[in-house]
Amino acid sequence: MTTTPVGIHDLSFATTHYALDHAVLAERLGVDRDKFYLGIGQERMSVAAADEDIVTIAAAAAQPILQRHGTDNIRTVLLATETGVDQSKAAALYLHSLIGLPNAARVVELKQACYGGTAGLAFAAGLIARDPSQRVLVIAADIAKYELDTPGEPTQGAAAVAMLVTADPAILALDPISGLYSADIMDFWRPNYRSEAIVDGKTSVNAYQKAAQEAWSDYRRQGGRELGEFAAFCYHQPFTKMAYKAHRHLLESQGHTAEAADLEAAIGATTTYNRTVGNSYTASLYLGLASLLDHADDLTGKALAMISYGSGSVAEFFSGTVRPGYRAHLRTEANQAAISSREMLDYDHYRALHEAVLPTDGAYHAMPEETRRPFRLGAMSGHKRIYEAR
Ligand code: HMG
Repeated sequence: MTTTPVGIHDLSFATTHYALDHAVLAERLGVDRDKFYLGIGQERMSVAAADEDIVTIAAAAAQPILQRHGTDNIRTVLLATETGVDQSKAAALYLHSLIGLPNAARVVELKQACYGGTAGLAFAAGLIARDPSQRVLVIAADIAKYELDTPGEPTQGAAAVAMLVTADPAILALDPISGLYSADIMDFWRPNYRSEAIVDGKTSVNAYQKAAQEAWSDYRRQGGRELGEFAAFCYHQPFTKMAYKAHRHLLESQGHTAEAADLEAAIGATTTYNRTVGNSYTASLYLGLASLLDHADDLTGKALAMISYGSGSVAEFFSGTVRPGYRAHLRTEANQAAISSREMLDYDHYRALHEAVLPTDGAYHAMPEETRRPFRLGAMSGHKRIYEAR
């Protein structure tokens, strides 16, 4: 029986107005900048302006998709985040007025740490298998924030990735097989009363590697491809070195040697964007995919491995095949412009943004005008977020 392929038809990325160079942070923390540039593989990180949040970057990521494809038959919108702005209302509902989402749609927010975007993709594929005429907009949007002057601080970042998931996709057809692993572990979490995550860094690194390996074992048990069949391995990247560590661990667990050149060939092209954007939690894996598609030689017909990890924890190993003609559908120029157009912060400005807290008194508060991105948080009033297009 042949079935219509389902997968990623379009992918669009947005990030914040500001960025901080890791050299600035290294100087402040009194460490060698190469600990960040080489040791964790991060050079810069995106930082949200006072008038940005996950809604503004999600809208900026999703708008180009609606402009290119319209809204017909988008009957489901799934927004994955762990930086939610409300405990009740789904963040994507704000997108109706900002970018014109259709009303004849179910709109839901998903959460499981950095894994949420992958859950969205899997749910979307299921809905489209049920009715191939439908299209699903999946958005992953996050702002990663750790306490100042802690080991987690250099692994902050922010981005949103929007994906249109359809039958007969133009970019990546998803294989129906997935490997899964979940376990109750306290490696990283953020209680409702905190704006910054709590993390046990070393435990999280080990938990990620174990979960990726277990998900791979399950993928094989389900009849998935062999390691040698993949042209590239796209990992969740809390920092880019993590992808190399996890891939080395996976190869060695399967009795393979992991030479530096082999690791670079498997991972290198997936890290270009994450190296300068930082951890974008749910979006990070899909930013890795964008980086791979934008920077690798022709991948037509090649199989890609996708490895998703969300602390707490859930991991999924899945795969897809790159579609003929995919290059005509990429947004390489816009992706690069989103990164190169960021304004660089000095340390004091970065610290002030980090320490700022949103008003909670319900009065009217206009937000400082900072971002030059398409959407901004204009004000807080009556406990409501008032968004505007610029
Ligand atoms: P640390 O303990 O400060 O760093 O923080 P370190 O001392 O381990 O050094 C890092 C690396 O830099 C080491 O290399 C050093 O040798 C090297 P490694 O041994 O790892 O290969 N180094 C240098 N290299 C070159 N020149 C130098 C130099 N100095 C040192 N001069 C840690 C590291 C990752 C623990 C910290 O950044 C952290 O806590 N980050 C947050 C947690 C995290 O990102 N965990 C990743 C796995 S969990 C995950 O991915 C889920 C997550 O995204 C959340 C979610 O799911 O929602 C986080």
